[in-house]
Amino acid sequence: MFTRRTFLSVAMTAWATRQGRAQGPSTEKVVIEPGEAIAVIRPELHGHFAEHLGTCIYGGLWVGRNSPIPNINGHRKQAVEWLRELGIPVLRWPGGCFADDYHWRDGIGPPEKRPRRVNIHWGNYVEDNSFGTHEFIELCRLIGAEPYIAGNVGSGTPQEMRDWVEYCNYPSGSTLAEERAANGSPEPFRVRYWGVGNENWGCGGNMTPEEYAAHYRRFATYLRDFGDTRLFLIACGPGGNNLEWTRRFMEAMPRRVRMHGYAMHYYSSGKNQATKFTVENLRAQLATFWDLEKAVLEQRALLDKYDKDRRIGLLVDEWGVWDRMDPEEEKRYGRLFQQITMRSALAAALGLNVFHRQADKLVMGNLAQTVNVLHALLLADGPRCIRTTTYYAFELMKPHRGATAVRAHAPEAPPPSLSVSASRRQDELIVTLVNPRHDTGAELECAVTKGSVRAARARILHHPDFNAGNTFDAPDRIVPRDHPVTASGATVRLTMPPLSIVTIQAGLAGV
Ligand code: AHR
Repeated sequence: MFTRRTFLSVAMTAWATRQGRAQGPSTEKVVIEPGEAIAVIRPELHGHFAEHLGTCIYGGLWVGRNSPIPNINGHRKQAVEWLRELGIPVLRWPGGCFADDYHWRDGIGPPEKRPRRVNIHWGNYVEDNSFGTHEFIELCRLIGAEPYIAGNVGSGTPQEMRDWVEYCNYPSGSTLAEERAANGSPEPFRVRYWGVGNENWGCGGNMTPEEYAAHYRRFATYLRDFGDTRLFLIACGPGGNNLEWTRRFMEAMPRRVRMHGYAMHYYSSGKNQATKFTVENLRAQLATFWDLEKAVLEQRALLDKYDKDRRIGLLVDEWGVWDRMDPEEEKRYGRLFQQITMRSALAAALGLNVFHRQADKLVMGNLAQTVNVLHALLLADGPRCIRTTTYYAFELMKPHRGATAVRAHAPEAPPPSLSVSASRRQDELIVTLVNPRHDTGAELECAVTKGSVRAARARILHHPDFNAGNTFDAPDRIVPRDHPVTASGATVRLTMPPLSIVTIQAGLAGV
């Protein structure tokens, strides 16, 4: 009998033969435990980051009020619309390295009176400060994101940062609150998330953990809650899985000092330019996402020694792929511009799967960076703006936000092969599978250990060439599509081609 499964199997083999390099699909098992809750997947795990770097802000998100490019008060209209559709939960700004050389007063008041400053971190070019605090808050409001401001510890003072908090959050009556009102915002901005510096072990002042701890203690003392806004103060954690930084910093940090978050950064470097990856480059980069998971586990375990009740949340407030830059592209599109490809999408989905699986250990994750820089959601060039495969990976995984992560694993799949995360919202099951292998498709049997599944539907993002991406000339080359999936009894069945991301949503009964 020619069953649906035989049909799929034959189709996959034909597909694989057409590719000339892919192996036929093997059957792989995935186990999903709907009764084993991990934690709520905080929407903030799908956060983003925008720095004054290259053309992320100027020329990317911000085109200026007098631009012929369609804009809303200077914000690129197309970017606003797409970011609002994606529903960015939190946006971190103004850096990055830039944050520790940024003086917020430069970016308030009449734009024509704002000073022109040299961006020393990212190419010594001049910025006119037309995008400052008010513009950032307006952007966040337009796209529905919670603002996260990184303060200046490296070249700033506790007073400067304390004043910034007052300027943003004090309801009314103080000179700084009145200045904010005179600049157009009588209502306080109510900014909760404040980073106390950025990478202070490097571009944020080249400090030792003990030196930074001393600075943190001093700054945090003067950062206060105003009105109904409770601050969430974030300390600078390690680059990668540097356990020594965490241990020495925490040793130097008395428990009474206010700290709500501790931010590690984790980049996955690429050994080639974005569109020139070899299979080896692909494997090496995607394998780092299993190291990221190990880093989250180890950093959290170390923090737990000092913070048994988990009062301090762990963030990965910069993450993503960092490939070798093409000098010509950087010249044209700005520093740290890289083309986003199918491989970048797989990387984004592998990262989000890690965050879902470790939802009990993380409070936020911010991908670097929103437009034209590193692992971007959007690429923009003059009037043109496109959605990248990274954007679509986030879109595909959006249903997990706010759901409860449940245990899920692919027992026969050693890294870097199949990756899975699952979550549950009442009687709905959401599963994201990532197949990062370039040459192996799979027939998947996803079995729930409790209850039964029904009415499954799925969406896929896939392209057979890991170096292909959406470009200004071919903006819709890779977009999500519906994907066939069946659910009966306790099993969901589907096929996954190589290099694909699938999110399944299914009804769950009897749990
Ligand atoms: O995201 C680019 C840079 O990477 C940031 O400015 C810095 O924090 C990190 O090293």
